[in-house]
Amino acid sequence: MNADKLVLLSGIKPTGEIHIGNYFGAIKQFVELLNDDSHQGFVFIADYHALNFIQDAAEMKRLTRNLARTYIACGLDPERVVLFKQSDVSAHTELAWIFDTITTMPYLMRAHAFKDAEAKNKEIVVGTFNYPMLMAADILLYNASVVPVGQDQKQHIEYARDTAEKFNRIFGETFRLPEPHILLDVAVVPGIDGRKMSKSYENTIPLFASRDEITEAVMGIVTDSSGDRPENVYAIHRLIKTDEELASLYEEHKGKYKALKEALIEDLDTFIAPMRERFEALTTDAEIDEILHKGGALARERAEAKMDEVRRAIGVR
Ligand code: AMP
Ligand code: TRP
Repeated sequence: MNADKLVLLSGIKPTGEIHIGNYFGAIKQFVELLNDDSHQGFVFIADYHALNFIQDAAEMKRLTRNLARTYIACGLDPERVVLFKQSDVSAHTELAWIFDTITTMPYLMRAHAFKDAEAKNKEIVVGTFNYPMLMAADILLYNASVVPVGQDQKQHIEYARDTAEKFNRIFGETFRLPEPHILLDVAVVPGIDGRKMSKSYENTIPLFASRDEITEAVMGIVTDSSGDRPENVYAIHRLIKTDEELASLYEEHKGKYKALKEALIEDLDTFIAPMRERFEALTTDAEIDEILHKGGALARERAEAKMDEVRRAIGVR
């Protein structure tokens, strides 16, 4: 591992099927940044974050392997990027505890995710309340400087920065402050109903959708009948084609929503097919487990070196 390169780190929770919002909002960016070799990459599966939602061992295993396959199908090369499971590196939860001791409740109560859960009047588990501290640990353990995520995660990166600053102030310079990396024009990918694409809204287009699933999703895109251009169709179309490429198509089929949807189905299928084939062809469970096992060992090495500094700084070593 090259110690001089800047570290890029990102993670996703294994809580369900990956959709094109996850791809364009997050995965695509880190795959591109990692493939130009300018960064050293740590990409992980946030299974301990997911445990707030997935409390079924078989489902956790299935979703975890699926996400590992997804990363690889999207172009991450496990030979060049450290691909691992959060739970394989116990330093994440240890450091989250240390952060808990310097973090106040009112500060965590200002988190959007917490406020949303509270607004829904849900009984909030401590793991959800504490979510930002585990995420801060994920990021800070590896001295990550670039953290590519969708817009909805920006506040969490700010929590990580604040926590790093606070720790450094109390215990001495230990952590590097991370930057989010958000591409503005794809920061929020809309779903087929025009709201943010999200599993919880059931408005997604799965990243490895079959032709039939793509057709069903696109035909379901909500269009209002005013205007020449169906905005919800266009918003998804422009993820895979430039405005210039789309200009003539949308001009030619002005007001013909069905033809435009058919064009979108064709373009989505062309775009998705190679990834879908890679995903389906990919390696056995045993091979996936082996990749994660190796990645876990590399991640642990890096994280333990950081923890050594941390334990000295706080006086437990
Ligand atoms: P989630 O599945 O919500 O945990 O999201 C995983 C990653 O995908 C995070 O970096 C999110 O910010 C990103 N993401 C999820 N939904 C969208 C969306 N509709 N638009 C852009 N990015 C998204
Ligand atoms: N909270 C992120 C999400 O919901 C997942 C995540 C956990 C993450 N730890 C991270 C993302 C560290 C980037 C860096 O999408």
